[in-house]
Amino acid sequence: MEQQQYDSLAAIQTASDTAALKEVRLHYLGKSGAISCLSERMRTLSKEERPAMGQLLNQWRNTFTEALEAKGKILLDQADAATFASLDATLPGTASWQGGMHPLTLLTDRIVQIFRRLGFTMAEGPDIDDEWHCFDSLNTPLDHPARQEQDTFYLPDGRLLRTHTSTVQIRAMEQAPPPLRIIAPGAAYRRDEIDATHLSQFTQMEVLCVGKGITLGDLKGTAEFFFRELFGTETECRFRPHFFPFTEPSYEIDVRSSTLSHQWLELAGCGMVDPAVFEALNKKRGDRAYDPEEISGFAFGFGLERLVMILTGISDIRMLTENDLRFLKQFAREF
Ligand code: PHE
Repeated sequence: MEQQQYDSLAAIQTASDTAALKEVRLHYLGKSGAISCLSERMRTLSKEERPAMGQLLNQWRNTFTEALEAKGKILLDQADAATFASLDATLPGTASWQGGMHPLTLLTDRIVQIFRRLGFTMAEGPDIDDEWHCFDSLNTPLDHPARQEQDTFYLPDGRLLRTHTSTVQIRAMEQAPPPLRIIAPGAAYRRDEIDATHLSQFTQMEVLCVGKGITLGDLKGTAEFFFRELFGTETECRFRPHFFPFTEPSYEIDVRSSTLSHQWLELAGCGMVDPAVFEALNKKRGDRAYDPEEISGFAFGFGLERLVMILTGISDIRMLTENDLRFLKQFAREF
């Protein structure tokens, strides 16, 4: 048995790969392997002989399996080393383009974060809407120029591509009673001649806050907070009286900041929700949830392309729609 034991360990040492090692293992530990057969034969031994024989066999099995494991590891390491040796680490890698967000998406995300801190939630509405949501409910009468054929895209069935995201104000108030604090980013459409500062499809963000005791002070505070978060703490806002059918009083917000060339820039339209808008909603809802004697609200809206242009310093709005990767990549991580 000593000779056999010696042979078994030598066989492990001479095995040159894992397949050969497996053979050796089977030869000794397999069902009809030497070690297994000897274990079988133990049964035929006398009581006196058995313990000594058992001990010897155990010893053999242990040294054999240990040697087997050790050799297995060595063979694996050798195989790994051989693979690495054939690799050329100086070859160029496979480039992987992960993609990046469009500057408009990045800015939208950033603005959503700012308003989320003030307790605003996101609201959505369809791009194709009806005249009631786009105009009538917003106190914009039939003879208003915005409703003319040449200003708006009408579908044959009378529906239209929304000319502003103010439609989402209406949809949000239709669905839920006050208090309400929503922002609604999305596409808006106008029959504008496309040039360096106009697109026929652009992006707006609507902000609406309705509840008991909401004042013009809340509107100013919210707008100022927002623009300071965006452009820096030294940013100034100027509320210039204006007219929108759906707000009263109405203003345009001009913004000036050292980070924006110190010029006053007209960036948003805003105002206190007109009581006529609330009444249109009450009529549609069939209740008095938006009783203008009880509640008030402010709204403002702004174009995102213009903000992206200011923040990135690009001078032609069309660059945002051309999908030229050389252009887009520059701004992929800008915001
Ligand atoms: N909807 C207006 C526009 O498109 C902007 C606006 C929104 C004005 C909300 C006042 C209140 O010009």
